[in-house]
Amino acid sequence: MSATLIDGKAFAARVRAQVAEHVTRLKADHGITPGLAVVLVGEDPASQVYVRSKGKQTTEVGMKSVEHKLDVDTSEADLLAIVDQLNKDPEIHGILVQLPLPKHLDEDLVINSIAPEKDVDGFHISNVGLLGTGQKSMVPCTPLGCLMMLRDYHGSLSGMDAVVVGRSNIVGKPMAQLLLGDSCTVTIAHSRTKDLADVVRRADIVVAAVGRPEMVPGDWIKPGATVIDVGINRLDAPEKGEGKTRLVGDVDFDSCAAVAGAITPVPGGVGPMTIACLLANTVTACCRANG
Ligand code: GUN
Repeated sequence: MSATLIDGKAFAARVRAQVAEHVTRLKADHGITPGLAVVLVGEDPASQVYVRSKGKQTTEVGMKSVEHKLDVDTSEADLLAIVDQLNKDPEIHGILVQLPLPKHLDEDLVINSIAPEKDVDGFHISNVGLLGTGQKSMVPCTPLGCLMMLRDYHGSLSGMDAVVVGRSNIVGKPMAQLLLGDSCTVTIAHSRTKDLADVVRRADIVVAAVGRPEMVPGDWIKPGATVIDVGINRLDAPEKGEGKTRLVGDVDFDSCAAVAGAITPVPGGVGPMTIACLLANTVTACCRANG
């Protein structure tokens, strides 16, 4: 491997330490404790792990954590009533409704019922529009974490060719907006892109967010490029023992690391930055709410 490892785990620990410091000051100087509410509907195992981790880290940085765990058959009206109650609660500054929601619930309707200033996920249509027009908004946590790592590693991103592979509302599209905001020349590639390998090969920065294990091989990477791997895919790993699994990203780590200038590992890259940015967004929301 010749690439520099971008250590998201260590970076996230630094971000959390800064958040904790900020929380201490808000309490001491203004008597305010930032509060984050997480709403989980149903029992999706991956969502349960994320929600537990969010709650734990929220408390660890000194913020108030509220969790609403609702039955899988919760009605839309009941869910909207809980969001409404959180919107009105002055002790809650950030609200996150864990996705995906069960099929009978309208995700767009629920997300857009969150007060935009408390939408720490940055998924509300107002925040999407504000980000798209370069105005002050809540920025989605995963792309924000990627941008922070890229800025930390490169300093300025101005003029760099960036290719985002994946066009999801949660990662691909906001990532492209953020890179554009930092004056990159941005291409969004996806499953229907023609000559995907050639498109990726032009990039100084590759952000892979497609949700397909090890899809990007090393020979798609321009020598010296920076590779940010957003994928978290669980594969069977019989070599580790019966029923064992291993986590892999959307890029083939070994072959990409042999060519890239810098790369984020999975696990320990983008993943830890996502929750750190959620905590940072909650402090931002709290500060904005309190002038
Ligand atoms: N499910 C997977 N990632 C996310 C996220 O960043 N926010 C929410 N609300 N749900 C998710």
